Amino acid sequence: MAPVTRSSTGVGFCSPSAQAEIAEHPGAASGKTSDTRRITLTVNGQQHELQVTANAVLLDVLREQLGLFGTKKGCDHGQCGACTIHVNGRSVNSCLMLACLQEGAEIVTIEGLAESAGFEQGHHPVQEAFLAHDAYQCGYCTAGQMMTAAAVIRDDSIDGDEASLREAMSGNICRCGAYKNILDAVQSARGKMRGGQ
Ligand code: FES
Ligand code: FES
Repeated sequence: MAPVTRSSTGVGFCSPSAQAEIAEHPGAASGKTSDTRRITLTVNGQQHELQVTANAVLLDVLREQLGLFGTKKGCDHGQCGACTIHVNGRSVNSCLMLACLQEGAEIVTIEGLAESAGFEQGHHPVQEAFLAHDAYQCGYCTAGQMMTAAAVIRDDSIDGDEASLREAMSGNICRCGAYKNILDAVQSARGKMRGGQ
């Protein structure tokens, strides 16, 4: 399976005007420019043709056009990890990605995590572990934490010791401070998925 890495700076721009606009309004979604593009995205295994403005960020398109509200908007600036999804097998902050640059992308959100990993029935082991270990309080950060955790677990370059997992998960902030249980959940899911290595 392809290694998964976080790309916190996976940002490019459609045009200089879009670049200026998103720099000024990082959370800008549809409607702030008449410059639109038609793109095709595969989201959780389903293909969608979408009309997006040049400055629309992927997070807003997923939530507002596809109704996938599991992915949360926290900081909207690439700092909290609440918006983490997988794009073409890489863990990314969707608030930092322009939708118009994702033509043909394969996207997985929390709604499709289990199925994308071959767990057609029920939950992904990470989801089961978060439940079993009470790894959330308000739950706002939880989807992003789970998406990063799933990517971290399948990344062979990340060791399973506590320090390595903490470092790998450090792009996801939990304002409730549930880190102890989150780490327990990641360790537990990692053990199950990697045969207790
Ligand atoms: S909302 Fe994307 S990193 Fe915070
Ligand atoms: S559980 Fe509340 S922000 Fe993480």
